[in-house]
Amino acid sequence: GQVPVICIDGPSASGKGSLAAAVAAQLGYAVLDSGALYRIAGYAACARGIPLHADHAPELAQVVQEMDVAFVGETILLGGEDISLKIRSDTGSRNASLISAIPAVRDALLQFQRDRARLPGLVADGRDMGTVVFPQAPLKVFLTASAEKRAERRYKQLISQGLSANMTTLREELHARDLRDSTRAVAPLQPAVDALSLDNSDIGIEAAARQVLSWWEERR
Ligand code: C5P
Repeated sequence: GQVPVICIDGPSASGKGSLAAAVAAQLGYAVLDSGALYRIAGYAACARGIPLHADHAPELAQVVQEMDVAFVGETILLGGEDISLKIRSDTGSRNASLISAIPAVRDALLQFQRDRARLPGLVADGRDMGTVVFPQAPLKVFLTASAEKRAERRYKQLISQGLSANMTTLREELHARDLRDSTRAVAPLQPAVDALSLDNSDIGIEAAARQVLSWWEERR
């Protein structure tokens, strides 16, 4: 397409969200937090009491199609209810990962994600932005970070949001989620063939953003 899109994919808590926000702010682009969509989907399905299992794919896809979601600044409303914090909990993460493995659910969210690409541009973060949703994007970044750094990051994030967190549980949950996200049959977490890798373990957000912006200058 003609709308410039920068994809940032990578495992849980690698820092995609902060990096996407920093890069988007520099360029005046919008951000697509695709993980939030799967978190909202998981929440909506659970609220209806539908098991997050492929046996229920048609009902799950329907719930996703009918979700009444509004993004108001940092706040996410589902049917008018503020679910911004709830979807960030451990349960919210696990539910997102479970529902996201169901192909009919991914299909139901595909067009919505593509429609976020508007001028002047979009920074999209997730697992399959570069491989599935925006395969033509001129810049695809695969962001990694050590397991320990990612657990630490998620810990701080949860605590700062006033949520409870336990490092041991977090490590286990992150590992289980990454394994599920990378081994699933549909849109597994994997770098696009033309993705540039960036290790975010030991550099700050400013340095990471600078790297992405300099790649963008070369490629756009
Ligand atoms: O990025 P975040 O941790 O918020 O994503 C939550 C979950 O949503 C991931 O563990 C993954 O299972 C799923 N997801 C996905 N595809 C994306 C973004 C997130 O399957 N593009």
